[in-house]
Amino acid sequence: MADRVREQYEDLPYPARDPADETKRLILGSPSHILEIDHYVFAGRRDWSRPFRALVAGGGTGDALIMLAQQLADRGGPAEIHYLDLSTASRRVAEARAKTRGLTNIVFHTGSLLDAAKFGPSDYIDCCGVLHHLADPAAGFRALAAALAPGGGIGVMVYGELGRIGVYHAQAMLRMIAGDGPNAGRIAVARKLVEALPPTNWLRRNPAIADHKGDDAALFDLLLHSRDRAYRVPELAAELEQAGLRPVAFIEPALYDPDTWIREPALRKRLADLSWIERCAFAELLGGGLRKHIVYAVPAARDGDPVARPGPEAVPILKDMDGMAMASAIGRDGILQVSGEGLSMGLRLPPLAPRTLRLIDGKRGIAEIRAEIGLKATDEDFRRQFAALYGALNGINRLLLRCPPPAPAA
Ligand SMILES: C[S@@+](CC[C@H](N)C(=O)[O-])C[C@H]1O[C@@H](n2cnc3c(N)ncnc32)[C@H](O)[C@@H]1O
Repeated sequence: MADRVREQYEDLPYPARDPADETKRLILGSPSHILEIDHYVFAGRRDWSRPFRALVAGGGTGDALIMLAQQLADRGGPAEIHYLDLSTASRRVAEARAKTRGLTNIVFHTGSLLDAAKFGPSDYIDCCGVLHHLADPAAGFRALAAALAPGGGIGVMVYGELGRIGVYHAQAMLRMIAGDGPNAGRIAVARKLVEALPPTNWLRRNPAIADHKGDDAALFDLLLHSRDRAYRVPELAAELEQAGLRPVAFIEPALYDPDTWIREPALRKRLADLSWIERCAFAELLGGGLRKHIVYAVPAARDGDPVARPGPEAVPILKDMDGMAMASAIGRDGILQVSGEGLSMGLRLPPLAPRTLRLIDGKRGIAEIRAEIGLKATDEDFRRQFAALYGALNGINRLLLRCPPPAPAA
């Protein structure tokens, strides 16, 4: 069966990418954006001038690999990224993308992530869209955990069950009629089936899923895969736990927080009694649209909090956007319209939000921002309003923190 999976990605590397596009844009995403890694795995305190070693396990055509390699090259510190995938065709695409960009910080390997530890301990491991294709995903989680350096962490994406409603119905139908012949014939059958789906069909009714309307590699990956499974939050948490890993954040955090939707005080009070993971599981059931889970996790035995938290010295950083532009997008009513993965809503921001956002430049710390705001707010008012702004924008994965390294021991 592993061969069927490998054969698929030899024939149809996914996602399909043209290396020439690297001259025009950098694809950014989660997990493994460097600001997220710093925030969620290294408490915002990683010293990037020290050697950093990452593994991109099941790197495919290279999206996370190229993003991370480029971001590390831009920072200029000593970094080595190891790419690992079963598919040589995918590797060739990733290599060509790296070449177009002139990236020299990548080492390419062909093989299985079950052997990840053979490639040495990594400070960070990316594994996006891969573990749900393994015959034994639990063994995959364990293999990655065993390849982590002490103090490291991992960013994983696996499919979410609820948001993929309809996908497995279509897969089941195609197992009945698509046959076992060459991929081109099976793809033709799948396209005909997609066209024939009645309005009541769950795939047709699912707005979050679009790959069946895309290129052949995307359609095959969605509907004709020889092996894929999807997770709910408790199953993913259990998978991490059995591998000795502890989840520390789901992306986007707001999608895993029932308070994003529930305002009613009595319900909120009951929800407050749940553990963080139970709340995430509740939010998944409530929202109903999560088609993937992106989770950062660290070894369960790791000491301390790996997640950056707001404090006077912490430096807020807007991820891939500008504070000025975001400030101008806030309506007169204090509402910022946002749309993203399954979330389209108006975020009510506090009155100081526009002024604060204009001061967020990735250099000023929270204390400096507070000082610049001056007499417009009392300390308590600023603290309250900053916490509300941070909660809202971190919740949609736009605002992260960089914290200064701890003072050297006297
Ligand atoms: C859906 S693609 C995702 C690629 C990439 N991570 C991304 O997000 O764009 C899955 C990739 O996992 C690779 N893969 C599947 N099983 C693997 C295994 N056991 N070890 C290494 N790679 C594997 C496939 O060859 C394929 O390139």
